[in-house]
Amino acid sequence: MKRTVRATRRLRGTIEPPGDKSISHRAAILNAIASGEATVDNFQTGADCLATVRCLRALGARIESLATGTLRVQGSGRFGLREAAAVLNAANSGTTLRLLAGLLAAQPFFSVLTGDASLRSRPMERIIEPLRAMGARIQGRAGGTRPPLAIDGGGLRGIRHRLPVASAQVKSALTLAGLYADDETVLEEPAPSRDHTERMLRVMGAAIVAGEGGLRVSPLAGELTPLSLRVPGDISAAAFWMVAAAAHPDAELRLTGVGVNPSRSGIIDALRAMGARIAIEKERTWGCEPVADIIVHSSRLQGTVIEGALIPRLVDEVPALAVAACLAEGETVVRDAGELRVKESDRIRATASELRRLGARIQERPDGMVIQAVDRLRGAACGSHGDHRLAMTLAVAGVLAAGETTIGGAEAVEISYSSFWNDLDRVAL
Ligand code: S3P
Repeated sequence: MKRTVRATRRLRGTIEPPGDKSISHRAAILNAIASGEATVDNFQTGADCLATVRCLRALGARIESLATGTLRVQGSGRFGLREAAAVLNAANSGTTLRLLAGLLAAQPFFSVLTGDASLRSRPMERIIEPLRAMGARIQGRAGGTRPPLAIDGGGLRGIRHRLPVASAQVKSALTLAGLYADDETVLEEPAPSRDHTERMLRVMGAAIVAGEGGLRVSPLAGELTPLSLRVPGDISAAAFWMVAAAAHPDAELRLTGVGVNPSRSGIIDALRAMGARIAIEKERTWGCEPVADIIVHSSRLQGTVIEGALIPRLVDEVPALAVAACLAEGETVVRDAGELRVKESDRIRATASELRRLGARIQERPDGMVIQAVDRLRGAACGSHGDHRLAMTLAVAGVLAAGETTIGGAEAVEISYSSFWNDLDRVAL
């Protein structure tokens, strides 16, 4: 599907971003292994989270979709999952495949996990190797590095493991496995990644302690308590509007009910460092997560350096930030972000090549990019590479560019933000 976006004179209005994708996956998975009923409001209904629900149902979990966005999960207990009768398909979702691989490595039955062409090309040794060290029997395509994965689960031991890259998917997979191990599992990360799994599990009764030596996960001593919650709005979805408003000459957007967990809110810090006018209001807590309204005004942006421990805090927002960098004064450097090459697409290459079609001056680096300001982006034909975040990044670029931008593969937004085009039509005046 192609979608055409035009330069807009004004950006005004209020947007309630969809429920957080990372938290939605976890709310479904963790409640499925808890004992008792939980209600999850504002559950993300994009294709990724629905893939998680489908896989859990195939494993015997009882999950009911009440109305759009509300999920009722009948947790069947920590040993309640059953062998699926068919291959489990995670579609485009790395979080589904990696978190379930960790959980299924601990279950005393056989599972096969696969995904679409993008997911089947993404690296899995980062979970396979430590899970094997815990005693799991896992085989994968391409010498045990790519899905499909075949898992003969059960009988795990606790390990101490240092993650080669900061990754919440890996940390969460090993945490889930660690809940079923015979001894403590200790996980060290080069920099902190999103901590939704730990937050939820603690509230549900698991013994998980973050300290100097890493994250210490104790084997479950009893059942997990179900956790009913309202899922915060997804800051990774809000990021597109934050960039659009900050870089547009006549904008004011209010983003309501957005998750502002510090392990996810690097986009706010990066945009503020660039000079963006961002106000945070009505700070509150939903479940175990901080939430706020975010108001963004037109701003004069300057280039910045985005690197180090900031990267995992905004890892999915770098393509959108690249658009802001194009329209900021001077140069922006993104480094330490080689992980972007193994996301739903190679996001360094795809962001650079697609934004160049609109006149951007971006050089690729192995671990990031260098972006020079341009006076104005120019509308052009471009494509999403089948990547939801690229599709939305290009839509934002199109709103800010002169003339008309046509985005091929625009349906990719369905992965995480089904109402994206409607929201755009509402605020682009
Ligand atoms: C996610 C973690 C990040 C992120 C992805 C969602 C999660 O991936 O890019 O969109 O829900 O844990 P990595 O953990 O691989 O960095």
